[in-house]
Amino acid sequence: MSDNFVIKAEKVSFAYDQNSPVLREISFHVRAGESVGIIGANGAGKSTLFQLLTGLLPHQGDLQVAGLPVEKAHLAAIRAKEGFVFQDSENQLFMPTVLDDLTFGPLNYGMSPEEAEAAADEALERLQIAHLKHRQNYRLSGGEKRLVCLAAVLAMKPEILLMDEPSITLDPVHRRNLIEILNGMGETKLIASHDLDMIMETCERVMVISEGKICADGPAREILQDQALLASCHLELPYCLQQPHWK
Ligand SMILES: Nc1ncnc2c1ncn2[C@@H]1O[C@H](COP(=O)(O)OP(=O)(O)O)[C@@H](O)[C@H]1O
Ligand SMILES: [Mg+2]
Repeated sequence: MSDNFVIKAEKVSFAYDQNSPVLREISFHVRAGESVGIIGANGAGKSTLFQLLTGLLPHQGDLQVAGLPVEKAHLAAIRAKEGFVFQDSENQLFMPTVLDDLTFGPLNYGMSPEEAEAAADEALERLQIAHLKHRQNYRLSGGEKRLVCLAAVLAMKPEILLMDEPSITLDPVHRRNLIEILNGMGETKLIASHDLDMIMETCERVMVISEGKICADGPAREILQDQALLASCHLELPYCLQQPHWK
């Protein structure tokens, strides 16, 4: 791609109910290798935006991923490049065991069973959950399911990572490990989260969604320190920038 953009959104809109659009003519571009935090209050439209970017919901306006318009004819090609971690792990895990889930995608994209299992093992090791390999998904805790979803996406080795609340339900050690994994990956990353401390550590750029619009888009270090801007979008400073309040 000559301009090096992996995502191009021009006046993209979406409404579940025509009387109250969730996203109203939003425009943004993401370059290859950028890591972009997407922040906004509950209901701002972060998860909806990810569903537009994966073609799970239809959109109005011009939306391109990897140089292809997000429309039916190109969805298979687009999804082969995208790794999407859903906000709700229950929607992501659908095979009986962890290993089945981790090898499903790689097998579907043509890896041999041995290659797929090696990709699964590597992802499990990176997320420090090799012990879960043969467990049944329905018996996992919420945090374990989260880690398995993250591993399933890493096993696919996607070019574009779309992560919706990736750190939710993770204990501090696994959260820290996730931050290190993300920082070690050169792929394009879009991370939606209320964990602004994680966004601060993993993203160079932040987009703030409020009232259906992108109300700020710029360097993370500027936006995440701008208390007035965050407050106007019903957000607070990252914890690490707040004053300790116990004596
Ligand atoms: N399936 C749906 N049907 C109708 N409205 C929905 C649906 N999913 C989300 N919404 C509404 O769309 C808005 C944006 O939701 P969402 O994208 O999940 O926000 P966020 O991820 O930023 O919390 C909210 O007002 C939410 O209630
Ligand atoms: Mg959401």
